[in-house]
Amino acid sequence: MANRLKVVRTVAPLRRALEPYRRRGDRIALIPTMGALHRGHMALVQEAQRRARRVVVSIFVNPTQFAPHEDFDSYPRRFAADIIALREAKIDLAWVPSVGAMYPDGFATRIAPEGPAKAGLEDEFRPHFLGGVATVVAKLLTQVSPDLAFFGQKDYQQLRVVTQMAKDLDLPVKIIGVPTVREPDGLALSSRNAYLSAAERTVAPMLHRVLKSCANRIKNGEIADRVLNVARIEIDVAGFKLDYLEARHALTLAPISSPKDGPMRLLVAAKLGKTRLIDNIAV
Ligand code: PAJ
Repeated sequence: MANRLKVVRTVAPLRRALEPYRRRGDRIALIPTMGALHRGHMALVQEAQRRARRVVVSIFVNPTQFAPHEDFDSYPRRFAADIIALREAKIDLAWVPSVGAMYPDGFATRIAPEGPAKAGLEDEFRPHFLGGVATVVAKLLTQVSPDLAFFGQKDYQQLRVVTQMAKDLDLPVKIIGVPTVREPDGLALSSRNAYLSAAERTVAPMLHRVLKSCANRIKNGEIADRVLNVARIEIDVAGFKLDYLEARHALTLAPISSPKDGPMRLLVAAKLGKTRLIDNIAV
């Protein structure tokens, strides 16, 4: 078969597998994931295939981005199904390191992102998260050296942090953000949606509905602060425990109070039972 998926688990075979692509001058795209692949991940795959000859998908549930009380152990792992999906999508290479291959004994270096990583959004509630993401993504980008790397807008602060890091470290890669893939009722696809009970699943799409209505009202000239204050109460009343609902500059993530102050993005995070959901929308 001409286009057979290779699965590699350590750095040396990864480099060997990439070498012929590079020798031929093929453009290489990387899609970092933690597996449990869904249509959101596959949208990144499709965009990557449109823009690069060779597509590498990494699957690595990264322990350094989880706090001790978070769901690292219970995070969905569906390796066999993921490999089938990647094979069917005609992906060239799956990079699937073990924790020991990624962080060998004695590993002692971390990336400490600032700027968008200190915006007072995810960083307030998950202080380990963005440093862990920046560290593993820096490693993945170094291991694969792709021309392009694809990230979902669904994890908007992550996308901004990775974009800033690649720029600050002069990594020769173009970071591309891909729009959020949603269920028909608006809920953003996420591996963590599997944690929702049937009752919670019916409430969950409300987050996106609220974001959409806030964005429309702000676009129509209503005052963002007021719109968001009402929405915060609506989210609470629906049964969520709100972490934040904020209006931010779409690039810097600095607080802004009007779309006249720059491109505005609304970002929300809230818990429904034990499931933490995040979403965001452009104004
Ligand atoms: P994971 O949650 O598996 O997501 C992998 C990529 O898929 C991320 O860039 C994420 O934003 C994107 N994605 C997830 N759901 C999406 C959706 N509904 N629509 C569009 N894109 C979506 O994010 C991570 O893994 C990790 O933090 C990682 C970047 C791999 C570093 O460990």
